[in-house]
Amino acid sequence: MSTDHSRIRSWHEHRSAYQASLDDPGSFWAAQAERFKWHRKWDEVLEWDFEGPQVKWFSGGRLNITENCLDRHLDDRGRSTAIIWEPNDPKEKALRLTYHELHERVCRYANMLKRNGVTKGDRVCVYMPMVPDLLIAVLACARIGAVHSVVFCGFSAQSLADRINDASAKVVLCSDGMFRGAKEMPVKSVVDEALSHCACVERVLVTRRVGWDVAMDPARDRWAHDELAEVNVFCEAEVMDSEDPLFILYTSGSTGKPKGVVHTCGGYMVYADYSFRNVFQYDPGQVFWCTADVGWITGHSYMAYGPLLAGATQVMFEGVPTWPDPSRFWQIVDKHRVNIFYTAPTAIRSLMACGLDPVLDHDLHSLKVLGTVGEPINEEAWHWYKDHIGKGRCPIVDTWWQTETGGIMISSLAGVTDERPGHAAYPLPGIQPVLLTPEGEEITENEVEGLLCIRFPWPSMLRTTWGDHERCRQTYFSAFKGMYFTGDGARRDADGRYRIIGRVDDVINVSGHRFGTAEIESAINEAKGVVESAVVGYPHEIKGQGIYAYVITEGPVSDPEEMRGRVLEAVTAGIGKIARPDKIQLVSGLPKTRSGKIMRRILRKIAEGELDKLGDTSTLLDPTVVDEIKGGRL
Ligand code: PRX
Repeated sequence: MSTDHSRIRSWHEHRSAYQASLDDPGSFWAAQAERFKWHRKWDEVLEWDFEGPQVKWFSGGRLNITENCLDRHLDDRGRSTAIIWEPNDPKEKALRLTYHELHERVCRYANMLKRNGVTKGDRVCVYMPMVPDLLIAVLACARIGAVHSVVFCGFSAQSLADRINDASAKVVLCSDGMFRGAKEMPVKSVVDEALSHCACVERVLVTRRVGWDVAMDPARDRWAHDELAEVNVFCEAEVMDSEDPLFILYTSGSTGKPKGVVHTCGGYMVYADYSFRNVFQYDPGQVFWCTADVGWITGHSYMAYGPLLAGATQVMFEGVPTWPDPSRFWQIVDKHRVNIFYTAPTAIRSLMACGLDPVLDHDLHSLKVLGTVGEPINEEAWHWYKDHIGKGRCPIVDTWWQTETGGIMISSLAGVTDERPGHAAYPLPGIQPVLLTPEGEEITENEVEGLLCIRFPWPSMLRTTWGDHERCRQTYFSAFKGMYFTGDGARRDADGRYRIIGRVDDVINVSGHRFGTAEIESAINEAKGVVESAVVGYPHEIKGQGIYAYVITEGPVSDPEEMRGRVLEAVTAGIGKIARPDKIQLVSGLPKTRSGKIMRRILRKIAEGELDKLGDTSTLLDPTVVDEIKGGRL
């Protein structure tokens, strides 16, 4: 007889679910998938080969994820709140949408997309701030089988253009501008600039948010409110194959341009729901709040999809944690009686730096579960979160996962498994992590450190990288035979809990956001007067990691500040403000091997201030350059 592992409520159940997932993964995941509405049941739960890679979950199954996020709840929960949208300005009224209303808005928006030529399989780029239309747009794409590619609004026109072109997006969805704390910032004009480099886009649909009189190209651009007035409220969901793409999300790797991670419909749906309900131990009626932007994977899986699949009520927040003052998060928790709060360590550290006064005015008694994501959490921040936000009574789930994994992979389950500061803890049932030596030997003991890989498929794993399957194979499946390589190093403690140490590749995690060093360097190299650059990460009190750039200029620089300004501008234009280096050191050379390879290890040690740990520098092409760099360290 099969046991129901759809909701794990005790350590004993966790162990038995984990064992069941190892013994018979097919039955384990089929039981999870039974919770949903399928137009046709799957033929095979799983077919896989990590060499290709070729992974299919629930193949032959047919479904639409939005029917499972919305229609499926209408009878029982149609009148309960799906979204509580809290605007940037606390004086502006919050907007509540019931499941009925959200369903209607998604259907209308979907009909607008159809009216503007979008059909199944088309790629639609969504570049919008955290307004309800962002979430509605994402779901509307899924409703009609269009593949959404959300680009975070902090990315520059150049980055946006690269992503639009890579996916050959036909339509762009955006807003006129955006509110962010005290600022109003452009959105549509950034799209206009990007589109001067994109021939594929036929239509731009613009949501009004700040009320600006933006330029509209009569052949290409339409106001969403005008278009929405022309369509009706019913939109049949497109029936999709389990393995049809649901979305593309671009993320940075250690080499070249960001890659478009592709997730597919069936497996992603099953895992987003399973992980949401189990990690956060969500109970019907509770209010969930994930502070991530929909532009990142966290906002996809734990705002757009996971909570809606579970029929949850959730908060969506347009603003920033520190405006009008650093108590904004806690005001919102009290105002909307948030029960489960999920944020990034960087936000906790920055609020911690503001002292306790902003916290003490709020009772926070509604909170039951706290979560973190995106980067390792240091013990000091963990304890502050536990004691002052959770008042010592809320379990903290430290959730480790990636854009590529689609959902939370290693995490304690709130109140079910124990917790240890800084430890993501145990793999979710169904997830099989392994630690390897750099030579690819599996380390089976505990109290060890190694390279974190996953040896068996899970439903929400990436299937490919858009337009370049070989890149997917090379990046994730070629380092170690038969394994998905995460790019992270991890430790396993005596009890089998995992602690994520951080990236072992040339990826920097700044405030929980990933950037490739190569990507930042190529942006810096665009600055006038720059010959070459090398970028490394270094420990940063608030951001987790900061960006340290070593820049070689053409000849001596008379005004170093002006030069640094040029470098910052180049990064802002090439990637966006979020990737601007914290420190820029102008140097005359870089430590290179005789074959011309930059020795980043040395640069990292200098940036970290570990000047006595540089190792042997005698084999460098020009060892004297190291002394110069050490001398000029910022
Ligand atoms: O290094 C790990 C770190 O973030 C990387 C994934 O980044 P991204 O795809 O942008 O997704 C972030 C949100 C899921 C990982 O390779 N990371 C993520 N969560 C944690 C973490 N590091 C330590 N602890 C975590 N809980």
